[in-house]
Amino acid sequence: MKLIRTENYAEMSLEAGKIIVDKIRTNPSLTLGLATGSTPKGVYDYLIQDHEENGTTYKQVKSVNLDEYIGLSVEDPNSYHYFMNQTLFKHLDINDNQTHIPNGAASDLEQECLRYEQLIKELGGIDLQLLGIGQNGHIGFNEPGTPFTSTTHIVTLAQNTREANSRFFNSLDEVPTHAITMGIASILKSNEILLLVSGERKAEALYKFVNREISEEFPASALKYHSNVTVIADRDALKYI
Ligand code: PGA
Repeated sequence: MKLIRTENYAEMSLEAGKIIVDKIRTNPSLTLGLATGSTPKGVYDYLIQDHEENGTTYKQVKSVNLDEYIGLSVEDPNSYHYFMNQTLFKHLDINDNQTHIPNGAASDLEQECLRYEQLIKELGGIDLQLLGIGQNGHIGFNEPGTPFTSTTHIVTLAQNTREANSRFFNSLDEVPTHAITMGIASILKSNEILLLVSGERKAEALYKFVNREISEEFPASALKYHSNVTVIADRDALKYI
């Protein structure tokens, strides 16, 4: 595992953005694994700026997102579909039908999980997966206790995850209780993983990630089984390291 120490959120985003753009320029048809939340926003801003200023093209790039809430429509401003469209996709020349996010409004959710896992396979797997980490160590929506063998599946969100994400909703009651997420095994199949960690609120999680034994009680620890993980963290997140 490689650790890149940065001063702050902006520098973390810049470092990650540079790595991603470099990969796209080397392999213009790569498959990117993308994430939502506060952490990757700065990276997406970097990709947009680079696209506008340097012309990096996404015409052949494919993307698969980690997760989506169950029960929110694609148009719901709190859905991850909406987030990705607004925050990234609509600003790039990426082909709409090459961007993939689990459908949390599918009528048959079990079938949707199978479809999504198969889709990743058909795309030839993920070349580069961008990840954040939850305060409880989750990656994607794989909450503590998720088997490391899990593929795309339906999860019941942990109470602390719902509380953390309630900042985007009017109230905690509005935060969905379930989601679809790529599993830990799906994530580990990626060729390369970039884990971004920013802010003091993630310092304890990063400390545990670095120092604790591998355990299903701390999902991010599964990444230690992967041979190509780069952690990019800022000074506040590195407080205990
Ligand atoms: P955040 O979420 O980027 O909004 O902190 C990360 C996560 O919960 O995985």
